[in-house]
Amino acid sequence: MHSFHYRDGSLHCEDVDLSLLASEHETPLYVYSAATIRDHFRRLSSTLSGLDHHIAYAVKANSNLSILKLLAGEGAGFDIVSGGELFRVLHAGGTADGCTFAGVGKTRAEIEYALAEGIYCFNAESEAELRFIDRVAGELGKVAPVALRVNPNVDARTHKYISTGKSDNKFGVDFDDIEGIYSRAGKELQNIKLRGLQMHIGSQLTSVQPFVEAVEKVTPLAARLKDEHDIEFFSIGGGIGIIYEDALASGSNDWWDGKSGEEKPLSLEQYAAAIVPVLKPLGLKILLEPGRMIVGNAGVLLSRVLYKKQGGAKVFAVVDAGMGDLIRPALYQGHHDITPVSQSGGKSETVDVVGPICESGDFFAQDRELPILEEGDLIALLSAGAYGFVMASNYNSRPFPAEVLIEGSKARLIRRRQDFNDLIAGEEL
Ligand code: LLP
Repeated sequence: MHSFHYRDGSLHCEDVDLSLLASEHETPLYVYSAATIRDHFRRLSSTLSGLDHHIAYAVKANSNLSILKLLAGEGAGFDIVSGGELFRVLHAGGTADGCTFAGVGKTRAEIEYALAEGIYCFNAESEAELRFIDRVAGELGKVAPVALRVNPNVDARTHKYISTGKSDNKFGVDFDDIEGIYSRAGKELQNIKLRGLQMHIGSQLTSVQPFVEAVEKVTPLAARLKDEHDIEFFSIGGGIGIIYEDALASGSNDWWDGKSGEEKPLSLEQYAAAIVPVLKPLGLKILLEPGRMIVGNAGVLLSRVLYKKQGGAKVFAVVDAGMGDLIRPALYQGHHDITPVSQSGGKSETVDVVGPICESGDFFAQDRELPILEEGDLIALLSAGAYGFVMASNYNSRPFPAEVLIEGSKARLIRRRQDFNDLIAGEEL
């Protein structure tokens, strides 16, 4: 379900007219729907109601404090990958004991911070890291709860930059080595408690098959670790894909869970039907770490057309957002639907939609058939709620955009637009 639809020819988020919102807050502007985020969280949780499960939202997907607060209110835990993300979660009203701490390169300062706050578990990604966590915990007189991330060597069949579960990726511990590490850790490391097992094979998976392969391969390992080391959870990671193409086409409110355009993303029902029967007999708590699935289709980036330009070979619509605001097209050839905020019903043309940044990779669409865009027109880049703002940069000294959260007819500024002073804050002459 999503909450972006045309009403009287103007794109709305829930009950708010996005053209009015853009006039008030200017562009580029991120807009999120609270109803969509809640709906996605609740649907995932209810399809897994047959399992003893816990959803640890992957903070990296969208870490705005108001969104973390909203999800904490829904009962979410949090999957964090840095001290900064833990700080955000605590600031937003989340609790440390609901946090798992992932990532291949945790620093001493981050480990000390997480131990002091009392996180639920570190997900360690190597024996070296496990031993370091043990050492730091020992120095602080604490016991660190840990899980190891297993690399199941399963092909997630997604973009190579977001595939993480193959043996040539930097993530996790080789499947064949992992039991040896658990047993050495159990014998030799006094300052850790082996609490679980974790895996994550990649992001934006649009087929259920790789999940099934990975879960079937790793579940027997989890069972053995439960018997031998009394672990209490198995985290199956995140990765559930969303629809990026033809996102508004159905005109209905059913965007994420059904077929649309070329993409046939997995449905939650399929996902649950495939994995619950394998996981349930384990008798372990099952953790999930979804990011994109919760927030991806809950956000859009609004931008205004600055100029139309007829190049030697192409027509360009130059807009006021750039790759510094939304880098997915430049980095992953990610597709984001583009739709005019005011429907004209007129003709269409083939254009490149490009940003103002001095890079040829600064585009949102190439050779795309779109309704004719004129200077001053407002467009929405859809499905920008995940890995959008969080990946923004100040490249070309462009301030970060503002973010607004919609709830019904209420629009709340949840992050103000940066100004030039923000750009130089912290620098010295
Ligand atoms: N758990 C772990 C350990 C992860 O590394 C990730 C994502 C997640 C959970 C959440 O995955 P999700 O449910 O959102 O697929 N910037 C890229 C995506 C990077 C994903 C990194 N890890 C993009 O824009 O497509």
